Amino acid sequence: MSGKNYSKAVEDIKSRVSIVEVIGSVTPLKRAGSGYMCCCPFHKEKTPSFSVSESRNFYHCFGCGESGDAIKFVQKYYNLDFQGAVERLCQQYGIVIEETRSGDDQKRDEYYEANRLAARYFYDTLSKSANKGYEYMAKRGLSAKTMQWFGIGYTGEGWSGLTDHLLKNGVSRETLLALGLSSEKNGKLFDKFRSRVMFPIINVRGKVIGFGGRIIGDGEPKYLNSPESPVYLKKLNLYGINRSKDAILREGFAILVEGYMDCVSLYQSGVENVTASCGTALTPEQAKLLKRYTKKVVLCYDSDKAGINAALRGIDVLREAGMEVSVLNVDDGKDPDEYVKKHGKDGFLDLLKNKAMPDVDYKVSILRGNYDLKDQTQGIKFFKEIASIIRGLSPVEADIYIQKYAREYSISEGALRREVESTQPEKEKSGQIVARQDVSESRQQDVVTAADVNLERMLIRLIMVKSSYLDKLSGYPEGFVTAKGRAIKDAMEFEYKPGAEFEASSLANSLTDEESEYLYRIIDNIQIGDSDELAFADCIERLDDKRAAKRVHRIHDILEMADAMPEEVVDQEQINKLLTELQTLQNRNRGKN
Ligand code: UTP
Ligand code: MN
Repeated sequence: MSGKNYSKAVEDIKSRVSIVEVIGSVTPLKRAGSGYMCCCPFHKEKTPSFSVSESRNFYHCFGCGESGDAIKFVQKYYNLDFQGAVERLCQQYGIVIEETRSGDDQKRDEYYEANRLAARYFYDTLSKSANKGYEYMAKRGLSAKTMQWFGIGYTGEGWSGLTDHLLKNGVSRETLLALGLSSEKNGKLFDKFRSRVMFPIINVRGKVIGFGGRIIGDGEPKYLNSPESPVYLKKLNLYGINRSKDAILREGFAILVEGYMDCVSLYQSGVENVTASCGTALTPEQAKLLKRYTKKVVLCYDSDKAGINAALRGIDVLREAGMEVSVLNVDDGKDPDEYVKKHGKDGFLDLLKNKAMPDVDYKVSILRGNYDLKDQTQGIKFFKEIASIIRGLSPVEADIYIQKYAREYSISEGALRREVESTQPEKEKSGQIVARQDVSESRQQDVVTAADVNLERMLIRLIMVKSSYLDKLSGYPEGFVTAKGRAIKDAMEFEYKPGAEFEASSLANSLTDEESEYLYRIIDNIQIGDSDELAFADCIERLDDKRAAKRVHRIHDILEMADAMPEEVVDQEQINKLLTELQTLQNRNRGKN
């Protein structure tokens, strides 16, 4: 791959290849206005919502949101990586990819070649005559075929077998050191990996980029891994994906495991759509790599505490990348390797079918174990944690889970919904993905005026008079602007029973001293005139005013964004609707002044 001037080729493609021709060659395009339309090749649809613009060298699907240029299209359509797509287009359109032969590229080629020779050496050592490496892998249930398929090898038992072999084959000392294959002592080179079973790490283009070496039996470190090098950046790769990518495409989902052995073992059993993150915390780059082949992932990590934590972190990384995630805990043995050895492919697939949980359910089930729901304070915390998990979801998902958990834990659906909709910056600490579009909203909310606080106090006072006001405020989480006020509202939601009024003394049980002092002060100091209903209506009107002002801001934002977008991507009907809405909002304000 190196040694070629890809950026020049990309320039050539951009200037010489028509996106309409590229897309038109795989799916018929119809003229529409200044561009072209067709049914989206990336999602099922009957009416075309996929539009292609020649002049902007850009496609966009209004159905699924997929968009990009000609290279991106070829990448997606043929499941290629970026270079693969460039090569394909160059070949198709007769563009010559020039050699660059920069010093760096040349070095990279040397590194790949050295790693390839090393992998070959290890494999020969393991496969040609009896040795401890083969014996150990066979004892752990691997067949000779599997060892060959993954290129698993053995170092042999000497101190410099590999180093001597590679030096003899023209690999430089500098390369051996840079790849972490050898180390130097008193001017002499020794093997870095000794008496270990070797798992070559191979990228999707089939290049050996590094190794993981397992000690035979017990000992430290259990696995020794290649250091990072110009050809091995740990955050970019997944173990086994070179072998499993076809199966991942075929099955429509990937199983992500922690260890080399989990990956190899599952593959051997017949569960082939598997790849391993290999001990490191999953990175966004790894998620992106996986997403080339599928959007669906089942995290199947070890069943210990470390595995659970890794899964929880992995969920967020994968979700952030736009993947659909579920989690499978093996309930027999410590990891998928042990499980599948005991129960075989069918056993594992049964487990997958019956026990894999959507990520949200998994998170909640883990949380559930941390709280004693008989304790009111803990109950509230648990309930808030659920809300903060749901807050990171899309509106449709959020709705489903709000209903589900309200039912499951007998809490008021409205209360849970309000909790989810309230944006409390301190909630972000639990590692949730906070819906990005809310950022500007919460920023505006940060400016709390005396009038806002007075309004909050009035709302609390009114709810103490009639608990039913709490439900009527369900759509106005922004009315509670102080931490104390929100704590009181939370306590109220937790205690809320239709028809029963709140007692300050009972609410105080789940409040801190400061919070209950705030509550008592409100009750003692705020007088409500003749009609609490009129007072409440007045509050609602003030809330509506604030909301209208915010919406006006938001619409201005959207209109500005639309100005900066290619016109064919912007739905004029949507814009007209926004303009009408803006007009209405402005009239409303004018009517008041
Ligand atoms: P595990 O300790 O779960 O190992 O570490 P494993 O995969 O079950 O290995 P076996 O079955 O005992 O042989 C999971 C992964 O973490 C990385 C490796 O990638 C390993 O596969 N790891 C673990 C290291 O890099 N170094 C270590 O010392 C241990
Ligand atoms: Mn294991």
